Amino acid sequence: MSTDRKSGAVGATTSEQITETVLRSVVGTPNPRTRQIVEALIRHAHAFAREVRLQPEESLYAADFLKRCGDVSDASRHEFILLLDVLGITMVVDTLAADVPDGALEPSVLGPFYRAGAPIEPNGADIARGGEADGEPVHVLGRVLDPEGRPVVGAELDVWGTNSNGLYENVDPDQPEYNLRGRFHTDADGRFEFWTVKPVSYPIPVDGPVGELLAATNRSNMRPAHLHVIASADGYRTIVTELYTDDDEYLDRDAVFGVKGSLVAHYEWITDARPVAASPRKRPHWELRRDLTLTPGTRTGVQFTAGREERVR
Ligand code: BEZ
Ligand code: FE
Repeated sequence: MSTDRKSGAVGATTSEQITETVLRSVVGTPNPRTRQIVEALIRHAHAFAREVRLQPEESLYAADFLKRCGDVSDASRHEFILLLDVLGITMVVDTLAADVPDGALEPSVLGPFYRAGAPIEPNGADIARGGEADGEPVHVLGRVLDPEGRPVVGAELDVWGTNSNGLYENVDPDQPEYNLRGRFHTDADGRFEFWTVKPVSYPIPVDGPVGELLAATNRSNMRPAHLHVIASADGYRTIVTELYTDDDEYLDRDAVFGVKGSLVAHYEWITDARPVAASPRKRPHWELRRDLTLTPGTRTGVQFTAGREERVR
């Protein structure tokens, strides 16, 4: 590391001395975890500034960038989460925290569009509340299992997805309240079953500072098609994840790096007379069969919820 030497002055004169002084200023932090995080933040941020020789105008640009992230955020949009996502920080954090055994359901990004409090629905319900306009029907079914393959009874699946326009209901005034969102509970055999629409790939919002970052780095803003799932049950780790669609062209260049091999799922096109007649819309549809294995641990909540834009129908 290069050292910017100045001598003879009292106090912190070199950038390294400034770093040491700032680190000393936080030694009185009462909470050890807070101290660890703040110290590491100072060390890494100062080293970063040294490494790139950050210019004063660039530092101000960064401050303005963050201010603008705040300016575009509101109840239904969280630009800071999007920033963590596109920088891959979310996936690094989630992967470090994951600690699930082979074969168990792995986590993926929550994203900024999760809305808590979706209606609790009976198994078999259709959450395409906007009807045909929502997209191609898909029957999702499977079991929630423990690592020994035994059913997990009463597990909750909180699911959400976009309609065929690639929009979540909370940012689309043309969709009904809680469209394509619902919570389901497994039965005595650990089974779940519901109807929604086949996910489509969609662009993440680029009309804010995150879009500026993606453009500056010549990156795609597309997310491969996915269905969001939060799986939780008493005695098991809550898993925030996504099931990706195996035929999607963006699987290898997800704007937020969320794809993991174990989360890629196959959709079967069903045309047989009997399942077609038994389906809510009485027509050929997709079927996604998937068992989900939970890892014993502590059930936790999700500390984020998006609101819905004001202009609801
Ligand atoms: C999403 O899948 O909803 C999402 C995740 C990260 C950034 C933007 C959207
Ligand atoms: Fe999504």
